[in-house]
Amino acid sequence: MEFEIRSATSSDVDSLLSLQQRVHPWAWERRAWCEELGRRQSIVWIVDGGGGEADALGFLVAWRVLDAIEIVDLGVAPEARRHQIATALMQTLVALAATSAVARIALQVRPKNRGAIALYKKLGFHFVGRQSGYYEDGDSARLMERSVDMS
Ligand SMILES: CC(C)(COP(=O)(O)OP(=O)(O)OC[C@H]1O[C@@H](n2cnc3c(N)ncnc32)[C@H](O)[C@@H]1OP(=O)(O)O)[C@@H](O)C(=O)NCCC(=O)NCCS
Repeated sequence: MEFEIRSATSSDVDSLLSLQQRVHPWAWERRAWCEELGRRQSIVWIVDGGGGEADALGFLVAWRVLDAIEIVDLGVAPEARRHQIATALMQTLVALAATSAVARIALQVRPKNRGAIALYKKLGFHFVGRQSGYYEDGDSARLMERSVDMS
């Protein structure tokens, strides 16, 4: 599957809104997406299909926090999964981190999200802790990290 990763702009808000609604049982409001796109420390990437698909195939939102990048959300359209789109988004983030004096990348994931955990482990992330009651429904989060320089 052909695809291209690029920085999202304010004209992508509708696509990001509808994609996030398809990816999760919850979604941000339009205002939250606009804030992310306007925040200096935010990284917001969107994935366009190479085959002329009208809809975006994926997205990644992350924040630069001191010497770390924290992944805020990552999603791939259900019909586009297992085509290495999330892998490409994450590898692009690691490459950016390597040229931005960033030491580590961190994220939270639900313990039952086996697909995402398998993806992150494949990319060199490991468990560093647990945060109880992290999610709005009371679910705990597993905290995962990887160093940017893994050589
Ligand atoms: C998790 C998610 C982002 C993965 O996106 P994707 O583009 O399908 O992932 P990739 O194709 O890059 O997967 C790379 C590898 O990760 C692992 N993986 C990904 N999804 C998996 C799944 N559902 N089950 C088991 N392993 C999985 C596999 O090892 C896979 O390699 P393979 O396809 O060669 O076996 C996508 O399923 C998604 O949007 N899920 C809902 C939102 C979500 O959970 N986001 C993460 C929040 S922490």
